[in-house]
Amino acid sequence: MTDRIAVVTGGTRGIGEAISLRLKDWGRTVVASYGGNDEAAKAFTERTGIEARKWNVGDHEECVEACAAIEKDVGAIDIMVNNAGITRDATMMKMTYEQWEEVLRVDLSGCFNMAKATFPGMRTRGWGRIVNVGSVNGQGGQIGQVNYAAAKSGIHGFTKSLAMEGARHGVTVNAIAPGYIATDMLATIPDNVMEKIVAQIPVGRLGDPDEIARGVTFLTSDNASFVTGSTLSINGGQHMY
Ligand code: CAA
Repeated sequence: MTDRIAVVTGGTRGIGEAISLRLKDWGRTVVASYGGNDEAAKAFTERTGIEARKWNVGDHEECVEACAAIEKDVGAIDIMVNNAGITRDATMMKMTYEQWEEVLRVDLSGCFNMAKATFPGMRTRGWGRIVNVGSVNGQGGQIGQVNYAAAKSGIHGFTKSLAMEGARHGVTVNAIAPGYIATDMLATIPDNVMEKIVAQIPVGRLGDPDEIARGVTFLTSDNASFVTGSTLSINGGQHMY
């Protein structure tokens, strides 16, 4: 496996941590970004030996500066995994504009910001991999998530369009649409609602973060050279199309 440089946003916890670890295991040099939790990031680096850097993926300038610094200190970014995401769940009756805007800014504009900073270099060098983490709820919708579902389904359109732009230049752009994965993100879901959700998953359980990470290693590998503009659904059969 070639020693390519990978950046994983939200890469120190949850699904992102599993992705960072898998890519490292595959011989990639990984830089994980995180947005706020210094303690978790420090523990992650101590545990894994993977460097963590802090910036806000929802801030365009911060993304440009962070990528320039990585390219200077570590090297050119070949693999970009846009994993960082937040939820601010509330039904439409209660959702505020701030909850709408914050989720769109981090989850969707975050993908634009990071791709804008890394895609041109990949295109010039003739090799690149971008993987955007969508969601089953971007494919199927979810009560309490007009913000999140809009951002995540936006990611799927973003992915296909950028895939077309990269296709003749060795840059593939794909999405993974995880189902319900056992991470801190599920913490705000009431127990009675959680039971209803698990009942809708044919496999009968939540996913494990590593089950998403294994998909990312494939999509970022040379084995996936003819895969672009696709969405890999990893959801225990919850949403089948
Ligand atoms: N599936 C099925 N039913 C759901 C549901 C869901 N995901 N979410 C809400 N409901 C139901 C509730 O059970 C309730 O039904 P009843 O009236 O029959 O009891 C009804 O919708 C209204 O819900 P609440 O009583 O809970 O209303 P609330 O205003 O107190 O809270 C809520 C609303 C914030 C949306 C809360 O229900 C909730 O957190 N739901 C879960 C939303 C969800 O699935 N978020 C995903 C987070 S993980 C993630 O986003 C990662 C990913 O990519 C998959």
